[in-house]
Amino acid sequence: PRNIYGESRKNSAGLDLTNISVMAPLSRQMSEKAEKHWKAAPIIKGRDADGKVEDVRNPANHEEVVGQVVNATPEQALQALEIAAEAHFSWNATPADQRAACLERMADLMEENTAELMAICIKEAGKSPNDAIAEVREAVDFCRYYAMKAREDFSGALKLPGPTGEIDEYELHGRGTFLCISPWNFPLAIFTGQVSAALVAGNCVLAKPAEQTTLVAAAAVRLFHRAGIPGEVLHLVPGDGAKIGGTLVPDRRISGVAFTGSVETARLIHQTLAKREGPIVPLIAETGGQNAMLVDSTALPEQVVRDVVISSFQSAGQRCSALRILCVQEDVADKTLRMLSGAIGELSVGDPAWLSTDVGPVIDPEARDMLNGHINRMESEGRLIARAETPADADKGTFVPPVAFEIDSLKRLQGEVFGPVLHVLRYKAEKMDKLIEDINALDYGLTFGLHTRIDSTVDFVRRRIRVGNMYVNRNMIGAVVGVQPFGGEGLSGTGPKAGGPHYLHRFATERVISIDT
Ligand code: SER
Repeated sequence: PRNIYGESRKNSAGLDLTNISVMAPLSRQMSEKAEKHWKAAPIIKGRDADGKVEDVRNPANHEEVVGQVVNATPEQALQALEIAAEAHFSWNATPADQRAACLERMADLMEENTAELMAICIKEAGKSPNDAIAEVREAVDFCRYYAMKAREDFSGALKLPGPTGEIDEYELHGRGTFLCISPWNFPLAIFTGQVSAALVAGNCVLAKPAEQTTLVAAAAVRLFHRAGIPGEVLHLVPGDGAKIGGTLVPDRRISGVAFTGSVETARLIHQTLAKREGPIVPLIAETGGQNAMLVDSTALPEQVVRDVVISSFQSAGQRCSALRILCVQEDVADKTLRMLSGAIGELSVGDPAWLSTDVGPVIDPEARDMLNGHINRMESEGRLIARAETPADADKGTFVPPVAFEIDSLKRLQGEVFGPVLHVLRYKAEKMDKLIEDINALDYGLTFGLHTRIDSTVDFVRRRIRVGNMYVNRNMIGAVVGVQPFGGEGLSGTGPKAGGPHYLHRFATERVISIDT
């Protein structure tokens, strides 16, 4: 394969939590930060707006109020849009170098404020300390990577080979005002990734974070402003998706939408954009996955079990990349499932702020109830393989212990089950082609895992499986910016890949100028 980057860029180093001299001061700083009540409100032209205040509770302990949020009204969202639409011309005319420098300052500010950002991710989104560090690192990496790409691709015009007596130039411009709608499962990383890409490509941005994770989004917007992004250019419009999205998406001044979330909402945005009056504009959608892993009889069982547990249950399975369907070759299935049951039984479920916890809460009661509905159905059909223990004070938060079920057909699965639930299917070696066809027929196409020691199997599968990210002999989560550009096809999204070389281009419009001299 070619090296398309030719770059010397480095990703953020993160922090080593196993090192006590790192962990001790970090825990102290996080506790200090967590003592204050965080606040979020619509941020319009750099100022917090007023409104009705609502409490934010810790998903691991609903008695703990961690902060307060004021949501935007539709009028405030439209006010922000008006300001952004006016600011676009001058932001787009700001040299790409200056816009990139803002992102680099943002990356530095996030690193300086790691303890506070981590504390909010833990308290507001139920992240474990390791996942919270990964949030900050990924957000930092997005900013530095997109800054580098903007310097390469957006700095001035590219001369084209025209006929004598003519100058032909190609350049990229921001499209106008982007609406960035981000999810709660990566409340800092995906939020920052969408917003930084749209901004550095020359767009103004209205950022609409998931309702569950407005506090960390507000902290990020304040840092973007401190990093030099003008108040007129970036606004935060938190609140109910239907209300805020329903006001902004139909408005012709919205020049594009970046959305990460459910397939249903992506379709709705697509329809609304298609039907509205005014310009035809892009939707960049990253949606779900019905992700499978295939394990053949040559795989190393210990490695398989470790990678399955990480892929299915880390972050309480609340990753779009997470493993949902484990397909094990029949000959090794009994042994693999025995070892997997043991590993699931060992998982400790509880408050993610404790380092001994493996699996924290799911995001809210609605998610817990949806998961429990599916779990009860599978259990009543007698399909249980193993389940982790329920924590003693489970009612304090929204805990769903990791669980694995055996299924006899992919048809048993209807849609994505977004949480720590694994489905296991046995397959016969001679039916592998058919299985891959069946997985493709699910119409999702995000991640796929393969455990095998046969090179020809790797070659065969990589040519047939229709996914955006395939992982061989490793876990299948935690894509790294610039290393594993991330995103799928089919029901999983429109592309381009986040943290990849072409992401910024979808936020831009191309212009060619031909001058007869
Ligand atoms: N980017 C995340 C991962 O790779 C998924 O949502 O796990």
